[in-house]
Amino acid sequence: MEVTEKIKKLQKERNALILAHFYQPGEVQDIADVVGDSLELAKAARDAENDVIVFCGVRFMAETAKILNPDKTVLLPAIDAGCPMADMITAEEVMRLKEENPNAAVLCYVNSDIEVKAVSDICATSSNAVKIAQSLKEEEIIFVPDQCLGSYVAQFLPEKKFILPKGFCPTHMKITSADIKAARAAKPNARLLVHPECAPEVVKLADFAGSTAQIIKEAVNSSHKEFLIGTEEGILHRLVKLCPDKKFYNIGRSQTCPNMKKTNIDLVLNALEKMEHEIKVKEDLAKKAVKSLERMFSVPL
Ligand code: 13P
Ligand code: SF4
Repeated sequence: MEVTEKIKKLQKERNALILAHFYQPGEVQDIADVVGDSLELAKAARDAENDVIVFCGVRFMAETAKILNPDKTVLLPAIDAGCPMADMITAEEVMRLKEENPNAAVLCYVNSDIEVKAVSDICATSSNAVKIAQSLKEEEIIFVPDQCLGSYVAQFLPEKKFILPKGFCPTHMKITSADIKAARAAKPNARLLVHPECAPEVVKLADFAGSTAQIIKEAVNSSHKEFLIGTEEGILHRLVKLCPDKKFYNIGRSQTCPNMKKTNIDLVLNALEKMEHEIKVKEDLAKKAVKSLERMFSVPL
């Protein structure tokens, strides 16, 4: 039996839901029940009625799923799939920033671990970060851990003071403004769509900035036929599938997140066979962290 058939059979037996991020390898996206951006996947995990959630992504995503739906068994097929950006901030550092800025609200990007979420006021993903920041009454906002996304959000709220410690996504930071200029010269008719995790000088050169799902929506709805894509290359799998008549190009060499690429269909099968690797969270931390996630969901978009 083929690996995909074995996955489908076991998935039924285990009553499992398979979630995959747009940065996952194509073969993993193809066997998933839901492929989405961070917000869409968090919602799918929160609302899942299955006994098991297999999260094809990185640790903070599976951890978020467990926080939001604690009675389910959440499995992360590649146990060592982390996010270097999430590792760039600690709860201790957030506490120190809070002490230094006692009137500031703490807005944490969902790309963070449970300890950081537990000491934050509210979470955001790249698709809702501007709206979330706009919903805060405080005049000062500590935004962690992504300085690039934080700077992007700050542009929409010039009246507020943003405190932005230095976190970043190593994959998106590889794209430079020189790469953009070269790509524009090579494909002068292409529309440039980027992720706000890119450096601010790169985002400034783009025609559109948004989360992975927003980039896809923009490409699908656009009358343009060619696009330069400034984000992780896994998204191209979805773009090509949804828009076979359009052309998509990476900027310079393709951008790959090594952690997102640790999952493959053999590991998904292994996860379902052995029920590993189960994500467990401390109850006291989860109770605190869920508040910042629920507050995010309560903001109208
Ligand atoms: P989104 O899918 O929410 O745009 O997130 C991008 C990302 O870097 C996830 O790690
Ligand atoms: Fe983390 Fe960047 Fe990889 Fe997303 S693409 S998981 S932010 S390192």
